Amino acid sequence: MTGVPSLSTVIDQRLAAAIADALPEAAGADPLLRRSDRADFQANGLLALAKRLKGNPRELAGRVAAGVESGAGAEGGESPIREVEVSGPGFLNITVTDAALLRTLAARAADDRLGVPFAAHPGTMIVEYSQPNVAKEMHVGHLRSTVIGDALVRIMEFRGEKVIKRNHVGDWGTQFGMLIQYLIEHPHELDHEGAEGAEAAGGEAETGGESGSAAMSRLNRLYRASRELFDADPEFKERARRRVVDLQAGDGRTLALWQRIVDESKLYFNAVYDRLGVLLTDEDLVGESAYNDDLADLSAELEESGVAVRSDGALCVFFDDIKGPDDKPVPLIVRKADGGFGYAATDLAAIRNRIGTLHADTMLYIVDARQALHFRMVFETARRAGWLPEGVAHHLPFGTVLGKDGKPFKTRSGETVRLMDLLDEAVARARAVVEEKATGLTEAEVAERATEVGIGAVKYADLSTSRTRDYVFDLDRMVSLNGNTSVYLQYAYARIRSILRRAEGEGAHAEARLELPLAPAERALALHLDAFAETLQDVADAYEPHRLAAYLYALASHVTAFYDQCPVLRAPDEATRANRLFLCELAGRTLSQGMALLGIKTPERL
Ligand code: ARG
Repeated sequence: MTGVPSLSTVIDQRLAAAIADALPEAAGADPLLRRSDRADFQANGLLALAKRLKGNPRELAGRVAAGVESGAGAEGGESPIREVEVSGPGFLNITVTDAALLRTLAARAADDRLGVPFAAHPGTMIVEYSQPNVAKEMHVGHLRSTVIGDALVRIMEFRGEKVIKRNHVGDWGTQFGMLIQYLIEHPHELDHEGAEGAEAAGGEAETGGESGSAAMSRLNRLYRASRELFDADPEFKERARRRVVDLQAGDGRTLALWQRIVDESKLYFNAVYDRLGVLLTDEDLVGESAYNDDLADLSAELEESGVAVRSDGALCVFFDDIKGPDDKPVPLIVRKADGGFGYAATDLAAIRNRIGTLHADTMLYIVDARQALHFRMVFETARRAGWLPEGVAHHLPFGTVLGKDGKPFKTRSGETVRLMDLLDEAVARARAVVEEKATGLTEAEVAERATEVGIGAVKYADLSTSRTRDYVFDLDRMVSLNGNTSVYLQYAYARIRSILRRAEGEGAHAEARLELPLAPAERALALHLDAFAETLQDVADAYEPHRLAAYLYALASHVTAFYDQCPVLRAPDEATRANRLFLCELAGRTLSQGMALLGIKTPERL
């Protein structure tokens, strides 16, 4: 499926042809076509082109303009161009016909995918995201990774990529020695009848959220208690250290307890994913432990090939350009001096697996910007070892979530903010907004909408910020009806649906009426609707969901201006009404499809 070419693509092609005609030596030059306020589009590329070829820009622009205009019917059928005008030192202003606009939009409307093509060369894409740590609370950094990763997965799947999700959880490491040893010595510690978990037991089936939170409090209790003993009792510390060795040796009883802790954490992770409405399932969860058996081989191979060398007993990889503050080289440590493998070894093993076994063409790592150096070293090591071809792995860093004080988001006492509490609060705030807007809803409807609005607000605030920037977590702003928020977009969608429902009640139908002249607000909306596929292309090329959020916000704004200036149900005549309903319908579909790709729901009523 090639999709429906947008008018800007069509014009771009005509410009390219006209340039090649006017100046054969400039064939292939980019006309730099952009949307413009003066006309529909502006081509800015001729100026630089004429300068480069030592020609007269206005003269060149004139010849290209004539070429574009006479290219009429190049693809057969009517020319989409109404006017081409040379402006300034050599720009081209291009206006398309109303009929061409409506024709293109009708083709989009006739397609399930709104005319969005599949990727030209789809491949296997691994998206690694979320990656919380077992036995620990998730924090806002994990929230960002989860939300951004989920949007990218949806977008890439929509483009026809074969996406493999990977939730690379931190489920291995020395802290497990401490936790497991404590469990052995306090066998009832994780029992569901434990003090804080009591409310969750009692025979009744636990709901997802409650069982998740109860699991997390049990784990917190275990963590705190074992940590305390570990710090206070040197003998326990020694037993915990030996327990790590048992774990690494695959001792049955030790592994079984490790598995219990992992399972308990999974309950919690899944409750968060469920609340967030993201796509991750147990199948996507392939933690650090999964690569355990590969690590010995892997380090031997690195050492034999000379990629890694021994340094102070540790197996290390060095880089000419990576130095610490004292100008000493900072190595990537594959194996520690005590023989233990760390975070880096696991990442290298994961790369070998993802390329060698899963045949990834692209690998995306949605991880905090603070780990940029780690990934640079890991990717470079894998490249030297011959495991990682150029251009396959991309670390997509993201910025920090800040509190209102501009510092990393923490509770007042400096602890990690509990994600569940945060999401519950977002839903509670959204509930107030929903209750104010809507009347006559059942309790179940209010609850459902509050969830859609509240969770949408949190996701949108994240996704509408450029990935690499920090942002302030401000629930008041996130659930505001005004400004660039998900509620504003959800409201725009609900309003469209309400108009369409009323139209249906009146027996009015939607239809593109190619013979009609379009009002300025209709043209602006139409041109924007035609750019949906291009926007998705940009989003996919740059792995930047915020571009889609920006597009959708602009779309909602165009819809608002359109209502203000162009009555729909009370349009002056039947044809205009049908045509406006058509624009409403396509705007609604585009809005909800776009939001769905961000992982945000668009309720039919709000
Ligand atoms: N679990 C880590 C953390 O919470 C993130 C893991 C990132 N992914 C990776 N392949 N290293 O910081």
